[in-house]
Amino acid sequence: MATASRRSFVEGLTARKPASTLIEQSGKGDTLQRAVGALDLTALGIGGIIGTGIFVIIGEAIGDSGPAIVLSFVLAGLTCIFSALSYSELASTIPVSGSAYSYSYATLGELVAWIIGWDLIIEYGFSVSTIAVGWGGYVKDLLDSLFSISLPTAITSAPGDGGTVNLPSVLLVLGVTAILVLGVRESARTNTAMVAFKVTVLIFFVVVGAFAFHGSHFSNFAPHGTSGIVDAAALIFFAYIGFDAVSTAGGEAKNPRRDLPIAIIGSLAIATVLYILVAVAAIGMAPEQVLAGSDAPLTTAIRSSGLGAWAGDILSAAALVAITSVVLTFLYGQSRIFFAMSRDGLVPEWFGRLNSKRVPSRSLILFGLASAAMAAVIPLSQLAELVNIGTLFAFVLVNFGVIWLRHSEPDLERGFRTPLVPFVPLIGVALCIYLMTHLQAATWWRFGIWMLIGLIVYFAYSRRHSKVANANGDGDADGPPFSRGGGGPAAPAPSGAGSPDRQG
Ligand code: ALA
Repeated sequence: MATASRRSFVEGLTARKPASTLIEQSGKGDTLQRAVGALDLTALGIGGIIGTGIFVIIGEAIGDSGPAIVLSFVLAGLTCIFSALSYSELASTIPVSGSAYSYSYATLGELVAWIIGWDLIIEYGFSVSTIAVGWGGYVKDLLDSLFSISLPTAITSAPGDGGTVNLPSVLLVLGVTAILVLGVRESARTNTAMVAFKVTVLIFFVVVGAFAFHGSHFSNFAPHGTSGIVDAAALIFFAYIGFDAVSTAGGEAKNPRRDLPIAIIGSLAIATVLYILVAVAAIGMAPEQVLAGSDAPLTTAIRSSGLGAWAGDILSAAALVAITSVVLTFLYGQSRIFFAMSRDGLVPEWFGRLNSKRVPSRSLILFGLASAAMAAVIPLSQLAELVNIGTLFAFVLVNFGVIWLRHSEPDLERGFRTPLVPFVPLIGVALCIYLMTHLQAATWWRFGIWMLIGLIVYFAYSRRHSKVANANGDGDADGPPFSRGGGGPAAPAPSGAGSPDRQG
């Protein structure tokens, strides 16, 4: 019957995996060990945040804003803080793996969950490429400074940047993929040590900057006015991405309701303060024109301080370590989300199978190869813009998710409550959309095409194979209605359960 089948079609798209079921099932069976505390989670956040954004993209963004990059950092940080409050509420209410994908499955329904999952693929996949391209700039600098080896542009830059292929980035992505496939995973302790190292080096940078500070570099503060500041904010937003990685570890947190919000907000706050200080120090040391043209802007800045080549070499080495750890975090997060989607039947289960080391090696290899290929031929700023639009869009949905869950499941236990709902999430939405409007038209087109492909895949494959749908009827929407809301029958294995393990 036409009306009934239309109704069940719509119900299929809005089928929800009840939050209570997600939480309950994440505690059963083949699940992750809950062994990570607040400090390690905060370190995980900082580890995912500090990378190519502050070490490389700052140079590109300064070209738009001039010294007012400081304000761009404030605006991008503010946008993230509003969304971080929403992430914190969802992470503390639905503390399972899978991040925004799982939250939206529980709140806004399957179609939105699919959209966000597909969107996160672009966020994580292109992030890996972007971060790797940034790494290449510092490798080039260090080889030149230490061994006087100058790698030709043809093999260190994408065609759009005057080269042919960006080989260092390809090698980095393939190397990290191999490490992850072999099951080598940085332990929480290694991660904390790496985070301490990169934070220390950035503090060192700020201290050096304080002694080699030229106030005159700030005289032409905002050469391109407000729009330059916002353009730069939309680009430098990349530097903040990663705090959401904390929420992908929801299934492993010891005391998720308390520790996830602490880690999400804490890591973001620390990064924001550090970034603003680094930006002031960088411009204090070197004029904006010098920074804007550099592949390794922080090294360029510290070399201008007159401290000697060794200071630049330390900075380049630190950048390499910092960026490598971010590639590791993102490639791993990527495979985790894809794994969650395959567990739910939205992508073929083949991709989610674990190897003998309990690692989803197939999706890792797939994404490793794809990210390496993109890093080889796409310029840095184009990659970063795509990541940003995808991430900002995910933030928009997470903010709406909070409002929706308050309405649909008001009694759920919340470890953290976003203040002043719906105003705070709505301000988060507005800020994200504002930054999105300052990304290039080409970025919008690329993003639109990606999402369109996603919708085709969803209707051609995922909707028919959805386990939530099949648990309640028929994936083709001709059977009984789907589960909607908290009272539905038990859903299949949650996306979080059985996710690949993180060594603690
Ligand atoms: N925020 C991360 C970075 O800057 C993605 O590398």
